[in-house]
Amino acid sequence: MKNKNIITNCLFPAAGYGTRFLPATKAMPKEMLPVLTKPLIQYGVEEAIDAGCDVMSIITGRGKRAITDHFDISYELEHQILGSSKEKMLDDIRGIIEKCTFTYTRQNEMKGLGDAIYKGKVLVGDTKPFSVILADDLCVNPDGDGVLTQMVNLYNKYKCCVVACMEVPIEDVHKYGVIEGNQIEDGVFMISNMVEKPDNDKAPSNLAVIGRYILTPDIFDVIEKTKPGKNGELQITDALCEQAKKGMVIAYKFKGKRFDCGSVDGFVEATNYFYELEKTEK
Ligand code: G1P
Repeated sequence: MKNKNIITNCLFPAAGYGTRFLPATKAMPKEMLPVLTKPLIQYGVEEAIDAGCDVMSIITGRGKRAITDHFDISYELEHQILGSSKEKMLDDIRGIIEKCTFTYTRQNEMKGLGDAIYKGKVLVGDTKPFSVILADDLCVNPDGDGVLTQMVNLYNKYKCCVVACMEVPIEDVHKYGVIEGNQIEDGVFMISNMVEKPDNDKAPSNLAVIGRYILTPDIFDVIEKTKPGKNGELQITDALCEQAKKGMVIAYKFKGKRFDCGSVDGFVEATNYFYELEKTEK
């Protein structure tokens, strides 16, 4: 089931430096790193379109212009390959550009994910729920709906914030926002507590938040009142924890697979996965 267009806006925080991929990310946004021939952020945009979104709101920063150019027509290039076999390689991105509106604003300073999302208020407005995709978490579900579509369906049922989560080995919990909560239906948890990147031995569980969120617009008021947390940054996890205390956030153990493309290992894993998939489809 699609979302009957309640959630039409998807926010992409994309201002981070991507230092784990230096030198590749010195002059190129990490979101433009290609898994096979498609940049990471395009996978995210396609997942958002599948979930019923048609406005992509991107939080960029200095050195991120390639993202804006990617989601625009390239007349010179298109003229060059007109009538050649290469033309079809642009079909998907052309379709995306036709279907969607792209809006942008910059996060001038790296003050954390909560701050990046707050910067998006001017793009997504404060009257409707919206989705958030962190493009370096690449998600696939070969057996059914995409991860964001699954979450939108859940939003339609519970009408509150939804975060995607997965079980991770306890030695990895310090890399994530971690949740504590009661299971209310299979794979769905009412969150009572959330901690950003806890020490492994202090984590409330091994259920880690991954980069997919559905947020209700009241989150902006909560972010305004949230103090900087882990690493001195404004954390969306802390703002969501406030909402969770009012019983307004659920975590969803999504169906599918997530690649951590913010790490070299995860990126290679995703590349191999899509390469094998492409080979079997040919
Ligand atoms: C961010 C969030 C964290 C979440 C993670 C998912 O951290 O702050 O809560 O678990 O994304 O990828 P980052 O990986 O940007 O440090």
